[in-house]
Amino acid sequence: MKSKILFALAMLALFGSHSLMAEDRYITLDNKPLGTPEKPLVLRTYFPDPGLGREVLANHDLGFRARKYSPGKGDVEGLEDPIRGIPGAIGVNFGAGLSYCWDATECRLLFAWQGGFLDMLNYWGDPESGRRKSNGYIPDLVGPLIYLARGSHPLAVFDDFVESNSPVFKGYRLIDNVPEFEYTQGKAHIRVRIVPGSEPMTFVKQYSISGVEEVAYLESGYKQKVESKDPLNFSVTVTGRLLSESESGELAPDYSTEKPNLEWGKALYTQLGCLACHSTDGTRGHGPSFAGTFGSKRKITGLEEPVLADETYIVESIKDPMAKVVDGFPPGYMPPYPIPDEQIQSLVLFLQTLKNE
Ligand code: HEC
Repeated sequence: MKSKILFALAMLALFGSHSLMAEDRYITLDNKPLGTPEKPLVLRTYFPDPGLGREVLANHDLGFRARKYSPGKGDVEGLEDPIRGIPGAIGVNFGAGLSYCWDATECRLLFAWQGGFLDMLNYWGDPESGRRKSNGYIPDLVGPLIYLARGSHPLAVFDDFVESNSPVFKGYRLIDNVPEFEYTQGKAHIRVRIVPGSEPMTFVKQYSISGVEEVAYLESGYKQKVESKDPLNFSVTVTGRLLSESESGELAPDYSTEKPNLEWGKALYTQLGCLACHSTDGTRGHGPSFAGTFGSKRKITGLEEPVLADETYIVESIKDPMAKVVDGFPPGYMPPYPIPDEQIQSLVLFLQTLKNE
């Protein structure tokens, strides 16, 4: 009897987390915790295209309409709309600091973001009904983009003076839990691992190449540092930056971005991925709920006296989450958000509206 109760309690602890997420977003179907730098999450899924150019997706057949198909009748009258997404990609999440999408067709890093990981609701469907939306099954990215690939492949491989640009994916293996992607391009055999850098918003691509004498690496638009042991074993540290919506090709917002305002704050809560960790209805998530935070006294790890959550406190919490860590929550879980003051002020306005239920 006793063990049954214990079991029920354990199940509650496991599945109780369902109610934690704000606004029905699902990082994974069962809301797994995010990955960590030591043990990233690796997920094969469809990916959205946040505004990649045609040159980046050079080896993709985009936009073909397929015949409609019915499991009972085979091909039926009519055409399906193309699925707008990237089919052969692998998502890796190292926690709040870094997620990226690596594409097996182009054999390159397509984009990176921070904050949450993926909202899989479109892909797996509503857990209650178990149904997904017919052709719209592309998960949403949670959190802001910090890197988006541009132009042709950054790694140029020359075979007898002819540039070969048809990569062939061979697979990936986990080395210390982190995927190492393997592909060939002409005679070159390429292995690459992508890991978080030591500074916020940075990541490191570690290349190890054989089969050719020389390659060239060139990518513009981001600050980067190349360190090499020899011409075929090198690493590139890329410094990302928060990409504006126009850069990432999303729709224009329907709120003003001129002065801080509540509508903008509300939108940033979603766009910057705060909702992956902070609810607005009082339920505990990866981070404390925002309900009733503003103006309350917060218990801080290592401090005797509680601290008033005024504007200064909220601003500091966003820019430098490690400065004061809320009691009972892990330090270093929330990434610092080096965002413009108007955005921070808009978020403050939003938090001010959230009263305790
Ligand atoms: C990956 C999870 C995660 C994300 C994403 C995240 N936070 Fe946090 N946040 C936390 C955790 C964990 C804490 C508590 C520990 C600490 O204080 O660092 C916290 C603390 C805070 C606090 C102090 C709260 C309190 O109860 O006193 C504020 C304010 C805050 N976050 C704002 C934000 C905003 C605004 C965003 C989005 C721009 C955001 N956070 C994104 C995890 C996250």
